Amino acid sequence: MLNFAIDTAKGAGSILMEHFGHISSYKHKSTPIDLLTIADIQSEEFIINEIKTTFPDHHIIAEESAIIDNKSDYRWVIDPLDGTTNFVHNLPIFAVSIGLQYKEETIVAVVYNPAADKCFWAEKNGGAFLNGIAIQTTLTNTLSSSLLVTGFPYSHDDRWNKGFDLFKALYGKTQGVRRLGAAALDFCFVAMGRFEGFWEFGLQPWDVCAGALIVQEAGGKVSDWDSSPMPFSGNRVLATNSHIHKELLELLSEDLI
Ligand code: IPD
Ligand code: CA
Ligand code: CA
Repeated sequence: MLNFAIDTAKGAGSILMEHFGHISSYKHKSTPIDLLTIADIQSEEFIINEIKTTFPDHHIIAEESAIIDNKSDYRWVIDPLDGTTNFVHNLPIFAVSIGLQYKEETIVAVVYNPAADKCFWAEKNGGAFLNGIAIQTTLTNTLSSSLLVTGFPYSHDDRWNKGFDLFKALYGKTQGVRRLGAAALDFCFVAMGRFEGFWEFGLQPWDVCAGALIVQEAGGKVSDWDSSPMPFSGNRVLATNSHIHKELLELLSEDLI
């Protein structure tokens, strides 16, 4: 199943690259800044067809389609293009994200950034890898020597304003905070040691499913902001190298979004 997920993510990545740099029109989804391109649609169609052909009984949750619920214990959770806004603006920070759960526990995860040909994957209890080389989170154990990454949702409501207050607070306590625009890669960059931590709210299952396992298998920690297990919904997520988890939780839990 891991090999199938890697091959499928790479196939979808090739479809994305055929369109990258050539997007001239797009649609809007939940808000005027929530974009949808032909690349999102074709990547997702490819992934769903591959799963239906190889695992016809499996349950599928994919961002751009209705749920295919076959009452199977196996559930695929798919973002065919994470980072659509970057993609539309020719910024090569985007990925295909494929997670596989068994009885609601993620057992296989693949995040593929085709523009850089970087494929991250993990298997439950099997470690995390980048293009076949094992990756690990950093050993940094203070917030003051950490670099963090975050993101913001498309809907600009009260939570959004509170999110900026948090951004300012954390900017003041760390070596900096970045906003790259592709949540699946934010997780992977924590896993490979570029960042010590990633927090965000208002995400969706397909943004977090694969990335969370990759961080855990690289030695990191993932949770909700109140320290309970990370919700499948992606409503509030914190992923760290584990050493700064407690310090970050103390700040994030002060005034829960
Ligand atoms: C988005 C990206 C972004 C995050 C948004 C997501 P999409 O996914 O992951 O980093 O801040 O909340 O919706 O729409 O490009 O698949
Ligand atoms: Ca996404
Ligand atoms: Ca997407």
